[in-house]
Amino acid sequence: MSAMESRPVRIHLVAAARPNFMKVGPLFHALSAVPWAQARLIHTGQHYDASLSDVFFRDFDLPPPHRNLGVGSGSHAEQTGRVMLAYETLLCEERPAVTVVVGDVNSTPACTLAAAKLGVPVAHLEAGLRSFDRTMPEEINRVVTDAVADILWTPSPDADANLAREGVDPAKVLRVGNIMIDTLERLRPRIDAVQTEEAFGLARGEFGLVTLHRPSNVDDPERLAGICAVLARLSARLPLLFPLHPRTRARLEAFGLMSGLAGLKSLVLAEPLPYIDFMGALFASRFALTDSGGLQEETTYLGIPCLTLRPNTERPITLTEGTNRLVTPQTVEEAAHAALDTPRARRAPQLWDGRTATRVVASLERFLDGRGV
Ligand code: UD1
Repeated sequence: MSAMESRPVRIHLVAAARPNFMKVGPLFHALSAVPWAQARLIHTGQHYDASLSDVFFRDFDLPPPHRNLGVGSGSHAEQTGRVMLAYETLLCEERPAVTVVVGDVNSTPACTLAAAKLGVPVAHLEAGLRSFDRTMPEEINRVVTDAVADILWTPSPDADANLAREGVDPAKVLRVGNIMIDTLERLRPRIDAVQTEEAFGLARGEFGLVTLHRPSNVDDPERLAGICAVLARLSARLPLLFPLHPRTRARLEAFGLMSGLAGLKSLVLAEPLPYIDFMGALFASRFALTDSGGLQEETTYLGIPCLTLRPNTERPITLTEGTNRLVTPQTVEEAAHAALDTPRARRAPQLWDGRTATRVVASLERFLDGRGV
């Protein structure tokens, strides 16, 4: 009997941390619009601050999660283990027909392992991305998740090639595009209206937007001091807006770097911003300086120059087809000046079109009907 014979089919959508919410949002809405699905949002509680979690439910018009597992922060093993234990209990209670996981945070492989071992099929949205840098916790998360998942929805051809090289059965893989673009397009009118820059005393097109939170950039005092010095020099040429992730704020304070940064005249420090406010700032910015994964993609889609302070990226299509450039603290100033002198150029990769959720729902329906992905 196919799962579709007992309708509506229960589907878990797992969300854990800030970069997950813009990926499950469009899928929740698309599944809510079909009669055969009963979508349930499961929040693992990896992010729990309102500014990293609750505000996104509001921006994305999502109901409160069906269940919050409340795992909180901890070491990697603690956090991953707590998610596995809590999610296993919920799986036994609810027996979903499919568990959908997104992205590459610790909760992604944790829920994948718990579900797979109970025989619940797992679908990974944003499968196949690889930085080939196993010092990144996210790379381990990606490899583990994709090795076990039953459905692998990829955003780009490089992801398909990575999965093929790892021996994943091509029958499990479907390229669906970039789901974050669905969120961006759905909310574009509200983003256009928000004018975040004004609230921070900045002028449209005349500032750079900075986000940094990767352990490799913020956990080492010398590295972070070097980055602060770069921000000071950059802000002398163009004002900067820097919303601070809690990890980054904590490290700046612990390393005695906060007062120097806060004292810079042309650098505006802010709390983490809700999605619509943040995208409002991005739309108005001249360039982004970041170590985020998602921002590399959003800037490519929008044609905004992006300087990524990392030695590698799991999203190489943003380098080959987009506006992204990998930089170091030594090369970032030259790259920023070049970005300021270059006009915007927009070239969205194939299937980054705002219709990814529709393709995912069609794929899920085929899978549940026993017709492959
Ligand atoms: C996690 C993800 C990362 C993602 C990022 C986006 C992993 C391994 N990392 O990193 O891929 O890019 O989310 O934000 O899954 N904290 C708070 N409030 C919260 C959550 C965390 O203050 O709601 C603080 C805690 O001190 C915590 C630290 O931030 O120890 C780090 O949080 P954690 O969830 O471990 O990783 P992130 O750096 O947020």
